[in-house]
Amino acid sequence: MVFSTSTFSRIALSLALSHWPSSANAASRADYTGYAVNASDVLNQNWYDSNNGQWQGLWWNSANALTALADLASINWDQFGSTATWYFENTFKAAKAANGGGWTNHYYDDGGWWAMAWIRAYDLTKDQKYLDASKDIFQDYLTALGPNCGGVYWSKDRQYEASIANELYFETASALANRVQNPQTDYRRYAQDNLDWFMNAGLITNANVITDGITEDNCMPGGAVFTYNQGVILGGLIEFARLTNDPRHIDDAHRIAGGALDYLTNDQGILVEKEWPGTLDQTGAQFKGIFVRKLGELHRASPRDRYADFLRRNADNVWTSARAGDGTIGSLWQGPHDPPSMSTQSSGLDLFVAAARASS
Ligand SMILES: *[C@@H]1O[C@H](CO)[C@@H](O)[C@H](O)[C@H]1NC(C)=O
Repeated sequence: MVFSTSTFSRIALSLALSHWPSSANAASRADYTGYAVNASDVLNQNWYDSNNGQWQGLWWNSANALTALADLASINWDQFGSTATWYFENTFKAAKAANGGGWTNHYYDDGGWWAMAWIRAYDLTKDQKYLDASKDIFQDYLTALGPNCGGVYWSKDRQYEASIANELYFETASALANRVQNPQTDYRRYAQDNLDWFMNAGLITNANVITDGITEDNCMPGGAVFTYNQGVILGGLIEFARLTNDPRHIDDAHRIAGGALDYLTNDQGILVEKEWPGTLDQTGAQFKGIFVRKLGELHRASPRDRYADFLRRNADNVWTSARAGDGTIGSLWQGPHDPPSMSTQSSGLDLFVAAARASS
């Protein structure tokens, strides 16, 4: 029996990917970067309010939109660097003023998103005020320590240890340890303590997926499996591996990323927010972008063909099935296009940036 080259490569690809059908993957890095520039223009024109420094006035979501702009600038500085810098500057002034002059509130994870957004802005601009903002947010985060069950609290109610609040705490501590010279705060020890707890708290299932959190009164781990909880930890592990020069943290990241790709995809290999069927609200719609942003970071730190195929396949599908003629992107990456918002749009932007990073 004679196979044509294309049949053979299709078989090889489907064996390598175990269960997803092959996809064309014809788009280049330049194509995905172009998709991302359009997605960011649509995001900013439709939803940014320069007076309050936020997109649709949504606080933690806006930190994620700003992070997505920073990531686009990081792959396309010549074309997009000055635009991103303007958004950093304006948001730094206007959003802080709108939040009473600081970056923190009742929810520790909200501060964590801003801490990581400002670290990205610092990485690109080397402007010290962004790193200082992140350091200030971390000082507030230290008041989240003290749960009976270990880790950090989700909110100032001190009743729940959400995985996301712990992942952002760990990532911020690790990122600050990598950037602050002569720190007054022992970021590395806080990161190490949190990681030791997180990996052994029962939050990670046998299938390597991370559940939502731990309830303070009984210390029982569990809850829904959301995409973003599989993502932020990857960023933390990359920072911590860099800090400690210990590649075992990258092995853990691959294990968790693999669990997510097995569990949170449909049979076409498209990322789905499984426990939240149908159109996503503005909270749920933010999650997938966070996951792929972090998977893209893992792919950059330690590439895998599986991640590149996944990111490109999802970006191709969003381009054809979840995006309308006006450039808006809906909440369902498998399609069809449903009503867009700043969170559906910025998640789509994260995906196009990650696909560009995974392409040549
Ligand atoms: C984005 O692309 C669409 C076409 O796909 C175009 O109609 C729209 O004007 C573009 N938006 C911006 C802001 O460039």
